[in-house]
Amino acid sequence: MSALHLDQVVKHYRGAGETVKAVDGVSLLVEEGDLVALYGPSGSGKTTLLMLAAGLMAPDSGNVVFDDRQVGEMSEREGAKYRMRDVGFVFQSFHLMAGATALDNATIKLIGDGRTLAEARKLAEPWLQRVGLGERVRHMPDQLSMGERQRVAIARALVNEPRLLLADEPTGSLDSKRSKEILAVLRDICHERRIPGLLVTHDPEARKFADRVHTLRDGHLHEGLDAELMATLS
Ligand SMILES: Nc1ncnc2c1ncn2[C@@H]1O[C@H](COP(=O)(O)OP(=O)(O)OP(=O)(O)O)[C@@H](O)[C@H]1O
Ligand SMILES: [Mg+2]
Repeated sequence: MSALHLDQVVKHYRGAGETVKAVDGVSLLVEEGDLVALYGPSGSGKTTLLMLAAGLMAPDSGNVVFDDRQVGEMSEREGAKYRMRDVGFVFQSFHLMAGATALDNATIKLIGDGRTLAEARKLAEPWLQRVGLGERVRHMPDQLSMGERQRVAIARALVNEPRLLLADEPTGSLDSKRSKEILAVLRDICHERRIPGLLVTHDPEARKFADRVHTLRDGHLHEGLDAELMATLS
């Protein structure tokens, strides 16, 4: 079964001064076909949790398991393959290549996985259309609005038909109408393809599209949306 399972996961950052308990004993099961929305104040550990799920860092203790594989124990090579083949990751800060068109940015994982440029472009273009960028495929990132750049980052995360969707504030730069469209795309992908999805968000709309909602506060996970956070969303 292709579920994402976090079991008592701990990740602390140790600097010169104090230790930051970014993720402090989190257990979470995201089942296939389920989109989970994760809310939490700034600095509560949301991005750290996604990076752990993507194998971009290893937990100090506890287990991160996807599809019966221990993500935290993958070698660098296995981790790279996991992210290329299995994971669709929408980064909070987009990470687009400045010198490449929207279309070529979206092809990057396909090229990395051995497709020719022509094949990759043919596969990526429908995804740009699906996020509403069919008219912008030849634009460079600096010719795109922030919301358009965000949608390129979303298309890029989806082109490899991931088996796990991880999205870090994918609607943070979008207006409310676009947010709803993108949230519907992400939800539909999880439901249609029966894949688990974990969506980090501050967007009040997101909970309406998610199957379940959790809150992260000071590295601790709680079910649902707590009253304090609810008040800040409206
Ligand atoms: N590389 C790092 N080294 C030291 N501390 C870090 C590092 N990355 C994150 N932190 C700290 O860990 C905590 C959690 O950070 P994280 O980025 O996971 O929060 P977040 O919930 O994603 O916040 P935001 O909503 O602002 O994106 C914060 O206190 C942050 O300052
Ligand atoms: Mg973050």
